Amino acid sequence: MKVLVTGVNGQLGWDVVRLLERRGISCRGVDVQDFDLLDGPAALECVREYGPDVVVHCAAYTAVDKAESEPEKCAAVNGDGTLNMVRAALSVGAKMVYISTDYVFSGEGEEPWVEDAPYEPKNVYGLSKVQGEIAVRSLMKRYFLIRTSWVYGVHGKNFVRTMLRLGRENSEVRVVADQIGSPTYSADLARVICDLIPTEKYGIYHVTNEGYVSWARFAEMIMAGRNLPCRVVPVTTAEYAAAARRPLNSRLSKEKLRESGVAPMPTVEDALERYLRELEPEGI
Ligand SMILES: NC(=O)c1ccc[n+]([C@@H]2O[C@H](COP(=O)([O-])OP(=O)(O)OC[C@H]3O[C@@H](n4cnc5c(N)ncnc54)[C@H](OP(=O)(O)O)[C@@H]3O)[C@@H](O)[C@H]2O)c1
Repeated sequence: MKVLVTGVNGQLGWDVVRLLERRGISCRGVDVQDFDLLDGPAALECVREYGPDVVVHCAAYTAVDKAESEPEKCAAVNGDGTLNMVRAALSVGAKMVYISTDYVFSGEGEEPWVEDAPYEPKNVYGLSKVQGEIAVRSLMKRYFLIRTSWVYGVHGKNFVRTMLRLGRENSEVRVVADQIGSPTYSADLARVICDLIPTEKYGIYHVTNEGYVSWARFAEMIMAGRNLPCRVVPVTTAEYAAAARRPLNSRLSKEKLRESGVAPMPTVEDALERYLRELEPEGI
């Protein structure tokens, strides 16, 4: 099996390539230095030249707040860019993994979102990820569409790193307490992706660490994990006033993942503990 992974410089792409290499699976990680997702011919050429059996598409425009002021760029990268990857994968008969998000849903209510819940994105980024999902679902048969949430990894910027920095510099930090979801360690998500790709168990999956917390609760766990004497002050989404609207209910139901027989995801607590240990050599 040969696997091409886009977004290797990002959090998830980095972990997927690392794990494939550890498992002795041939893979190539690519990012903007290899081709821009918007350059269809370049994407096609790269995929045809490598000839993968699987394309794991992790590259994306992920700046959720910035996207509100550059909607065309976000839609182009996540919509048209994904379409380019779909066409390239189809041209060599490869399976595809597309990574999507809880932000494709409205965020209303308190029930976990099931895999076939209707789209109702509330921000530019969410809409662009729906466009990517539609490109995959309408043109491909052999795909794994994986929705995840609140991703953090060793390779890239994320909420945990930000909290660790703020926790060292401040005695208190304001964090949103009315958005509920599942922070997800990219190394755990990479494991599920690598378990699924050799199979024919195609379809839509929700893959997050187990358990639901608010951002504020997660921040408290991070401070406690490093014994940082920083108080987490809970605020509402309205008080925080970020540029992009965000779903209050980001709970994802993982029924399809349970049915797939793939080993379940570890808990949010366990994942954070391992992540903090992984960061230790960097002195963070
Ligand atoms: N992060 C989250 O909380 C989260 C939550 C749910 C779903 N997801 C999805 O999970 C996947 C992985 O997320 P992540 O956090 O690993 O993302 P990430 O760290 O932001 O990495 C994305 C990578 O894609 C590259 N990229 C962006 N525009 C590109 C273009 N036009 N052509 C080629 N490469 C381009 C980026 O390069 P530059 O940095 O140079 O732009 C970056 O290396 C994405 O599909 C994302 O939508 C993420």
